[in-house]
Amino acid sequence: MKTDYVHGYNAIENRRLQDQAITLVELLHSDTIYPKGSVILEAGCGVGAQTVQLAKNNPDAHIVSIDISEVSLTEARMVIKEKGITNVEFKQGDIFNLKFSEKSFDHVFICFVLEHLPDPIQALQCLRKLIKPGGTITVIEGDHGSVYFYPRNDHSIKAINCQIELQKKAGGNSLIGRELFPLLTQSGFKKCRVSPRMVYVDASKPELVEGFTKNTFTAMIEGIREKALTNNMIKEDIFDKGIKGLYRTTKKDGVFCYTFFKCFAEI
Ligand SMILES: C[S@@+](CC[C@H](N)C(=O)[O-])C[C@H]1O[C@@H](n2cnc3c(N)ncnc32)[C@H](O)[C@@H]1O
Repeated sequence: MKTDYVHGYNAIENRRLQDQAITLVELLHSDTIYPKGSVILEAGCGVGAQTVQLAKNNPDAHIVSIDISEVSLTEARMVIKEKGITNVEFKQGDIFNLKFSEKSFDHVFICFVLEHLPDPIQALQCLRKLIKPGGTITVIEGDHGSVYFYPRNDHSIKAINCQIELQKKAGGNSLIGRELFPLLTQSGFKKCRVSPRMVYVDASKPELVEGFTKNTFTAMIEGIREKALTNNMIKEDIFDKGIKGLYRTTKKDGVFCYTFFKCFAEI
């Protein structure tokens, strides 16, 4: 298993992924609907945060959710059981080396995973082989370069840049959202359609202030504090002022924007 996964595997990160999924359900998942009877592969399901939505939106589909981490799968199994969801099966596996027969899935769904992989094109090619003729892939990724906020704060930008650099050092790419079209096209997928999905947050949307600006984005940047300092990427006081600046955007007059990218493509 990859041990340098930038967010780490722990309870706080699991909570963050669940918060992220709950807050963004409408924006990201309302149009992930598959025909009845579809067999869907969810690649890199993590702790099951997106699995819940996928299963709820598609009660008549069968979902096979895989992840490389047994620890995350154990959590995901618990989440799904607690919700009484029965159309999901979990398996441990590496996207680059899955043991399924070729053309065994109608559709593939992959969310917030490519950004962590050293070779996203190879991953997409591996997944493409598993899709039946006429099938599709749905890819969702963020892009940390899409962040802007009020009040502006250069320290916050520096703290965010530490996350971008750390992910790069770990072999990933947190600016991958903007690359979905070229990546899918180069992997052999056809009819790629990318739709940018902006999260716009101000005080009139208190659930997004809490669920997105604070508990998803700022929590993610706060989570890399020790790594950023240990790697001498930033001075402690600058990082802390950066985090303060991000929290400042959650006040009455603050604004925070972030764009996700969702891509549908055919094989
Ligand atoms: C940020 S999490 C996203 C999880 C989930 N899709 C979500 O949106 O909540 C990325 C997940 O990809 C998994 N992962 C990373 N590399 C993998 C690989 N080669 N094969 C399968 N899973 C992988 C990690 O274990 C982690 O659970």
